[in-house]
Amino acid sequence: MELSLLAHLCCINCAYKLKFWPFPFQLKSKHSFFPKKNNKNNNKEENFSNWLNKYYLSPDQEVNRKIYRNGLFICPNCSRWYPVINYIPEILPDHLRDWGRDLAFLEKQKWQLDSGLKKFLIQVAHKAKFNAKSIIDSGLKFKKAEMNIKDKVDDPLFFGPGYLAPFNPQNPEFTRQLIRRFGQVIYLLELQNPVTILDVGAGYAWTSEWLAKAGHNVIALDICRTYLEIGAKRMMNLPLPLQPELLVADVEAVPFQGNIFDAILCFDAFHHVPDRKKALRHLWRTLKPGGQIVLAEPGPQHEKEPSSIKVMEKFGILEKGMSLEDVQSYAEDLENAEIKQVYIVKVDNDEIKPVLFPASLKAHKFTDCNYYVIRKHQR
Ligand SMILES: C[S@@+](CC[C@H](N)C(=O)[O-])C[C@H]1O[C@@H](n2cnc3c(N)ncnc32)[C@H](O)[C@@H]1O
Ligand SMILES: [Zn+2]
Repeated sequence: MELSLLAHLCCINCAYKLKFWPFPFQLKSKHSFFPKKNNKNNNKEENFSNWLNKYYLSPDQEVNRKIYRNGLFICPNCSRWYPVINYIPEILPDHLRDWGRDLAFLEKQKWQLDSGLKKFLIQVAHKAKFNAKSIIDSGLKFKKAEMNIKDKVDDPLFFGPGYLAPFNPQNPEFTRQLIRRFGQVIYLLELQNPVTILDVGAGYAWTSEWLAKAGHNVIALDICRTYLEIGAKRMMNLPLPLQPELLVADVEAVPFQGNIFDAILCFDAFHHVPDRKKALRHLWRTLKPGGQIVLAEPGPQHEKEPSSIKVMEKFGILEKGMSLEDVQSYAEDLENAEIKQVYIVKVDNDEIKPVLFPASLKAHKFTDCNYYVIRKHQR
């Protein structure tokens, strides 16, 4: 049986490990309905998870991959629930959730067995929705723009047709660039054995797909469901071990327990993230000691390029490249971190000089991309 990295998901609100309940909820016995009234010694909220455990069938502790199409991840501590829709969990913070869609999803399930439980879950949602009002997120407008990109994915200005990713028949040079860069990040990720990898801002998830096909256990995380769904369609006929698992989440609130991933990749994605310090703190927590984060991102002039300006104006998303100094400042709070920019150059025998200097490195860059490696040393 394939075990899933999704078994390590935790609540964004309180960091407790989440438990998965598939739809339809199934009672263990005929008489075990959700209690209708709160009595004083039985705080419904406190005992909610005990209740579920006692009376409802749940899958094994470990979530098995792709067995359950729809369901809820539920927090045993704060009772927040997060939907799994069409095999893709969405573990988003309260203020980024589409509550209308989530409540409609709940409504659509078969509740004839236990309307008390449904009512309770709706109450929890309303509380969380109210809580969302007090959350301050200065990058909210960029995140909303990323999440609502739905009708724009076919625009050739954007990043190519996801059904074929990384192949873009309209732009073969871009395709070649992507594949070259992928080869380089494979080298930087130092993937010798099958390892667990978090692919952040995975989009159509082609990098995740290729890493999974190379034998690794991969989570493709993205804030935008639309991209992941297109990737899921592209990969749906692959055997399960060759598919990454998909997860809708914000990299500024990574819903995983600590020390889960051997390596983390951000491929053309970190330069869209508004609060990079916060994002790196989350990634650092989930990275195992000895592992590394690889950022493959455009340089600090990126936002001044005409194509970036066009994309920002048209779609409202953030485009902001980075230099080594920027990455060092994003990573300044991380313990035991070693930060390097790695230059991958193409030099032939006529060009070899005794000394390498920055201008010659830049002139001989193999791709138009900067690579940063942030290694987490064992203490
Ligand atoms: C240019 S795309 C790159 C996608 C993919 N890595 C590739 O190379 O094909 C950037 C991706 O970052 C995602 N993204 C932006 N902000 C994010 C955030 N706060 N959390 C998670 N993903 C985010 C976007 O939704 C988008 O899919
Ligand atoms: Zn919680």
